[in-house]
Amino acid sequence: MPAVSGSRLRARLERLARFGGLPGGGVTRSCWSPPHEEARAWLLGEIRAAGLQAWVDPAGNVFGGLGTATFDQARPVVLTGSHIDTVPEGGMLDGALGVIAGLECLQAVHESGTAPARPLAVAAWSDEEGRYGSLFGSRAFCGLLDTARIPEMASVDGERLVDAMARAGFEAARAPEARAPAGAVAAYVELHIEQGARLEEGGVQIGNVEVIVGVRRTRVVFHGQADHAGTTPMERRRDAFLGAADFALRARELVVAEGSGRSVTNFGVVQVHPGASNIVPGRAELVHEMRDPEAAVLEALARKTAALAQEVARGRALSVELRPMSATLPAPCSPRVQAAVDDACTALGLSCRRLYSAAGHDAQNLAQVTDAGMVFVPSQGGRSHRVDESSDWADLERGARVLLHTLLALAR
Ligand code: GLV
Ligand code: MN
Ligand code: MN
Repeated sequence: MPAVSGSRLRARLERLARFGGLPGGGVTRSCWSPPHEEARAWLLGEIRAAGLQAWVDPAGNVFGGLGTATFDQARPVVLTGSHIDTVPEGGMLDGALGVIAGLECLQAVHESGTAPARPLAVAAWSDEEGRYGSLFGSRAFCGLLDTARIPEMASVDGERLVDAMARAGFEAARAPEARAPAGAVAAYVELHIEQGARLEEGGVQIGNVEVIVGVRRTRVVFHGQADHAGTTPMERRRDAFLGAADFALRARELVVAEGSGRSVTNFGVVQVHPGASNIVPGRAELVHEMRDPEAAVLEALARKTAALAQEVARGRALSVELRPMSATLPAPCSPRVQAAVDDACTALGLSCRRLYSAAGHDAQNLAQVTDAGMVFVPSQGGRSHRVDESSDWADLERGARVLLHTLLALAR
């Protein structure tokens, strides 16, 4: 019977954390950046050294295969994985755990000489964090990429996806070729840290995900009038920043008051133009994000916040534009995968709770093309998307054991 090596899992996670590692802890490793490309090369080497097949597709997704080196509907694979890109000043586990644990599971199966009925593969999906477009690699793989938008996709600081990919040796226009043939994936299961505090606070070892939240991102642009910040009387100013600030405060209140109780919202990007202390802001741009596990709730909130933006603009003699950036629907996980995760926990004597994922994951794209599910392990203090993201090493190893058990059951 194959068994995961906790020490190898830890050694690889610690090694991966050095690519883009920050002096005070944490990691900045955006997709296509030099540290990310070094991590990609290292990962390919680890996959090969583990005795697995290694390949990269035109969307930059890295794969390791056991019993396969491709995706073929004649031999559907049981797939696992996650991502090796990070948010700016992120942690060492978000994404990394699912990739490294997936590799560990395949290596353990390979070394044990076990031959599952189906081939197994592990993926490191590109740009999960959405520096240039959310869940980019898994979207391409699942045929969900809006191909027409590729030329205009850009990071918040304006770098075009086309240029970022070219720097890393990829041609963005070819990314849609990464689409896997229909029926090539028999099932997908992704291990991830919870990134919240429900498991830790409930004293539960494993989370079995029922649904992944939908996420809507909209660029909200307030237009006013740039003016001299010293000479323009206060009552004559049309300050675009104040419109943006007012909207942010009121949108938050609206989402809390009229959402589902699970609805959340964030303004993580704010830009003021021209951006000088002696000019009244003529334009202010916000990236407004909202999440909820129910599509209808998200839809209603989107309508209400759009109306609110117009009301705020009118009240301040501004105009406002709402430009949709991305919208993912909530993704239910497959009952078959959830049952396999439950069985794995029972067999391993681990406590397990069903929960929804409040973070977005590549599994939500895979759920559109195959039976997909997710396994969560506790996050200390619920901390994530911050440099001190951490989990107990024993919890990470437990997660890898559940993943191995689940993969083998799905590959039977
Ligand atoms: C992924 O990290 C997300 O933004 O939920
Ligand atoms: Mn993340
Ligand atoms: Mn992640």
